[in-house]
Amino acid sequence: MLLVKTAAELTAQISELKKNGKTIGFVPTMGYLHTGHLSLVEQAKKACDSVVVSIFVNPKQFGPQEDYAKYPRDLTRDQELLSAARPDILFAPAADEVYLPDSAVRQLRADEKLSAVACGVSRPGHFDGVVTVVARLFDLVRPDKAFFGRKDYQQLRIVQKMTELEKYPVEIIACPIVREPDGLAMSSRNKYLSPEQRRRAPALQLSLKLGAELLRQGKSLAEVKLAVWHTLQAAPETLVNYIEILRRDDLSALREYLPEQTVILAAVYLGNTRLIDNIEV
Ligand code: PAJ
Repeated sequence: MLLVKTAAELTAQISELKKNGKTIGFVPTMGYLHTGHLSLVEQAKKACDSVVVSIFVNPKQFGPQEDYAKYPRDLTRDQELLSAARPDILFAPAADEVYLPDSAVRQLRADEKLSAVACGVSRPGHFDGVVTVVARLFDLVRPDKAFFGRKDYQQLRIVQKMTELEKYPVEIIACPIVREPDGLAMSSRNKYLSPEQRRRAPALQLSLKLGAELLRQGKSLAEVKLAVWHTLQAAPETLVNYIEILRRDDLSALREYLPEQTVILAAVYLGNTRLIDNIEV
């Protein structure tokens, strides 16, 4: 695995791979890697000749009150974890390698409809930051396929839309959610949880499973939302941010449950830590 820190060196390496006719798989991350991230690398390895992983905590996707400064960073630990997964290139740039000081980087806007719900409501500007960095990274890495987790369901849809609108010749591969044995979706932010909060955290997935079951039983969307809400809110120190039941492909509102086309998305605060999860029903 080659560690690359500058855009210039990355461009040279990518040109070399392209010259040799290699297909490129790309896994963008913000680091502090876990098995969820590594599963994306594994899938990229299976599907492509060469794999590039990026680690970049993107300042543009954090709001002023959010955790940019304290977001966990540990490049040595990440390199160790990646040494088993064996991507070809690890791109770990400094901020000014990604956002040129002369600000020639295009600022993109996330699709308005897709970002008007769920996380987009409580994190204004977040998805604009995500699409801006993903487009910039696509320009540098020029991947054939890029791998994103279903854990960040709304992000996945927004990146798919941006890729289509900007006409990037990149296939977006949606990868399954990797969970801890007790059901908690893996996340770099799980590190913030106290032992007590960590014990309570699986309630998020359990409540989504309950919601899915109630939908299948024919309960109305309002009844299901309320039931999920009550289940979550019952735990101490838990504050529900949102629960939304939406159409999977365009995240539009549903009037009733449509089997195989529905997703329940939820975000909760456990203390100061915001956790998200979803279930496709
Ligand atoms: P990050 O949170 O580091 O996640 C990087 C990728 O790993 C995303 O595609 C995310 O959906 C996926 N991922 C995270 N946890 C997962 C899990 N438990 N199972 C499966 N996949 C999981 O998402 C970002 O970084 C950033 O917004 C980024 C796309 C890199 C742009 O800055």
